[in-house]
Amino acid sequence: MELNSYIKQGVERFKNIDNKEVIRVISHLDTDGICSAAILTKAMIRERKKFSITFINYLSEEFVRALGNEQHKHIIFLDLGTSQIKNIKKYLKEKEIYVLDHHSTRIRTEEEGVFHLNPSIYGTDGSKEVSGASVVYLFAKELNNKNLDLAYLGIVGAIGDSQENNGFLGLNNEVLDDAIKSKKINIEKGIRFFGAENKPLYKVLKNSVDIYIPGVTGSDDKALELLESLNIEAKKKGRWTRLEDLEEDQLKALIESIVLKRQSLSQNELKKNDIFGNKYILLGANPEIRDLRELSTMINACGRLDKASVGMGLLLGDKKCFLRATFTLKEYKKEILKAIKWIESKKRTKKVIQEKGYMIINAGEEITPKILGTITSMFTRNREIEYGTYLMGLSRTFNDKIKISFRIVGNRSKVSLQRLLESIVEKFDGECGGHHNAAGGLIHVKHEEKFIETVKMELGKKAMEEVIE
Ligand code: C5P
Ligand code: ZN
Repeated sequence: MELNSYIKQGVERFKNIDNKEVIRVISHLDTDGICSAAILTKAMIRERKKFSITFINYLSEEFVRALGNEQHKHIIFLDLGTSQIKNIKKYLKEKEIYVLDHHSTRIRTEEEGVFHLNPSIYGTDGSKEVSGASVVYLFAKELNNKNLDLAYLGIVGAIGDSQENNGFLGLNNEVLDDAIKSKKINIEKGIRFFGAENKPLYKVLKNSVDIYIPGVTGSDDKALELLESLNIEAKKKGRWTRLEDLEEDQLKALIESIVLKRQSLSQNELKKNDIFGNKYILLGANPEIRDLRELSTMINACGRLDKASVGMGLLLGDKKCFLRATFTLKEYKKEILKAIKWIESKKRTKKVIQEKGYMIINAGEEITPKILGTITSMFTRNREIEYGTYLMGLSRTFNDKIKISFRIVGNRSKVSLQRLLESIVEKFDGECGGHHNAAGGLIHVKHEEKFIETVKMELGKKAMEEVIE
């Protein structure tokens, strides 16, 4: 069956759910999952459906089994579920199930008895062309045309899942069209500095890590010097100058100077991030979240610090939630800084293994599993690590498991990281899932030593193979 007809079928089934029944919703706690939940929540309110939502970091077999003991008849999984489809069928036979996901799957058919909406079944690349939230949006749009105003959340989800690469691809692009048509967002062309909407320009330059400016990034003084050398006042009439305050010729001079400074960087470094490109602006929003990348970061912070519902509240327009989310973002930044400092302090010890071709951060209880993915992802943009280096983060969960996050510097892997991790985790009876360029998993702590040894061997081998190529 073709994707659109399949969506229609699922929507018809969903409409028939009794409005007195409570629908159980399980969603992923990252930005994409929270956006997915926000879309479905708004859509369900419009249909007068009752529901309860739980956000989780990953879907384990245990969790699926426990759902079988609950009273709810209808269960909806958002931005997860695909990797557990077999267990869902096994343990939740008596329930009516909806899985709205985009994680890659080798299962090519729709599942009998389970509404399994995943465009990757239809040949769409779930890691690049469609976010989980975009999938939920396509479902919501079929449910009610009013939900067109939720398209922008599909885009925020896609940004959260690193699917924006100076534009969008495939289904995400169709969702983007709807988001623009419904007058929720605008695309602006410009410098893609993070924080430029609400921070002083010199701070933006100092904090510019993704667009690395040699000799400037990391130093307030050097950032101020750069502005001075271009005759740009860092402060005017007691107010810090922002990017938007620059005259056209000042902006031109600043860009030229940055491009010049970046010429010393390697081609691979330049490939990691483009200076210019699209900025997706949320119309009528507060400066802190006007740039959808910043909104996405704030939502992610909420999820990672156990406040997914605050993030969702913010997306649904709650002012109190916005304030709490702003505060949560600050806390989150502190957590991240603490983790990065810990890694720095453990370099060249058994905790941070750095060899040719790979890096393993074995954080134990020092980094919470909830931010492990974010931390590991941050290293994919690290300029001190060679392009193409495999990155693996490990951290202890509360129930004697080890959470694994697997990435690659530069985010352009030749092989699927999900498959590669799967082939290793399989040997330890673990769980795993994810995408081409980002995978994650779980093993029991008793396998720690053997697992690390195997990883070292496998990744070392892969790195060698690539050199020989
Ligand atoms: O947690 P992390 O950000 O490292 O996860 C990377 C990817 O792997 C995500 O898409 C996540 O959904 C997936 N994953 C999974 N099963 C796990 C852990 C992560 O499918 N046990
Ligand atoms: Zn996702």
